[in-house]
Amino acid sequence: MNIFLTGSTGFLGGELLVDLSKRKEVNKIYCLVRALSEEHATIRLKHVFDLHGDVFDPEKIIPVLGNIGEHDFSHVLLSNKIIRDTNIIVHSAANTSFSKIYDKIVEQVNISGINELIKWSLTLPNLETFVYIGTATICGKEVTNRIVKEDESPNPKVHHVVKYTYTKMMGEILLAQHLPKEKTLIVRPSIIMGDSRDWLPRSYVILWAIETANMLRLVPVNGDSALDVVPVDFASNSIVSLLFTKRKHSVYHISAGQASYTTSKRVMDAIEPSFPHLPPFKFVPKPLINQMKLWAKNKLPQEAELYQYPTYLDYWKGIFDDVNQMRILLAALEPYLEFAELGQIFDNSRLLSDTGFQTPEPAHIYLARSAKYLKNIDVFAGAVDP
Ligand SMILES: NC(=O)c1ccc[n+]([C@@H]2O[C@H](COP(=O)([O-])OP(=O)(O)OC[C@H]3O[C@@H](n4cnc5c(N)ncnc54)[C@H](OP(=O)(O)O)[C@@H]3O)[C@@H](O)[C@H]2O)c1
Repeated sequence: MNIFLTGSTGFLGGELLVDLSKRKEVNKIYCLVRALSEEHATIRLKHVFDLHGDVFDPEKIIPVLGNIGEHDFSHVLLSNKIIRDTNIIVHSAANTSFSKIYDKIVEQVNISGINELIKWSLTLPNLETFVYIGTATICGKEVTNRIVKEDESPNPKVHHVVKYTYTKMMGEILLAQHLPKEKTLIVRPSIIMGDSRDWLPRSYVILWAIETANMLRLVPVNGDSALDVVPVDFASNSIVSLLFTKRKHSVYHISAGQASYTTSKRVMDAIEPSFPHLPPFKFVPKPLINQMKLWAKNKLPQEAELYQYPTYLDYWKGIFDDVNQMRILLAALEPYLEFAELGQIFDNSRLLSDTGFQTPEPAHIYLARSAKYLKNIDVFAGAVDP
């Protein structure tokens, strides 16, 4: 069978590309890539394989140039006769930014993008399955401190922490409007962070937030809230396995679930031994982030609670050339902290039952092995483009 894959240069998409390329059922993988030329696209794809020494087969991996955010993207695909024999679409590309300044482009890429893909998919003579990589966090911010089941979403009435999750919810709604259920597979990962194998993770997506908290050490979040986190290898293996399995459902959480969820405190405890020279982690109530911002602006009133933590204030003065820089980090970190306090655990019993997989290793266990990579993360670059 032939697969059309979007997002193959990304964190999850790269892992999916490598895993799919190893399946004997797969003939061609057409990879949508943003690139200036076919040669440039091939270099980008080859890099995906080179990272961990996987074999790149140019007969099997075929680049397709394109940008899903373009208005006439479906026409670009329609005019390409080579990809007409696609049997499976795996749509992993997305703009995953949480920052308000990117809201317009997030909508364009994530909503118009899937709309254009759907239009094209309807013209394919041999389409079997449209796999949409959604996100479990479309359940909205009203859902707190409990287990969430697949059937609760998509619910257009919920409120979202960031525009990104709204656009991912809209993607599911559009898919349901245009394609029959039996032709869709919606997978909803929880938080994908790092890799459970002891090697360089493909991307520092989300790990950025861990390193930022690691740098600040005083973390304005409830450290005991449940966090549902999975490693990218588990996410990719699960999705590929579901694709080739006889499925009982059309929607699946790809999550740690009740048996393997973690907490911010457990994660920080796990990485703490790797940074013995830093002040100990201290979790404080989330509203203190506003005081941290004011302190960074030199505008914090004398009586403010934050002054009860002089060790951290002195430490910050020491690590930032200009404490004002801390505001950039705090602004980017804030939505992550909001998600981290929701306490959402995503039920994964459908996934475990249909794939036969074991529950994944909890994040605080595998992230302890990855702590050595945190120092590679440029937190300021990540704050601008996390
Ligand atoms: N990471 C998580 O925690 C998480 C959790 C739940 C769900 N998901 C979902 O998983 C999927 C993959 O996420 P990820 O973490 O792998 O993100 P990522 O590393 O940021 O990768 C995004 C991919 O989308 C591509 N892309 C972005 N805009 C595009 C455009 N306009 N045209 C064509 N391609 C475009 C990127 O291409 P370039 O390389 O050219 O930028 C990249 O290949 C997304 O659908 C996301 O919503 C992720």
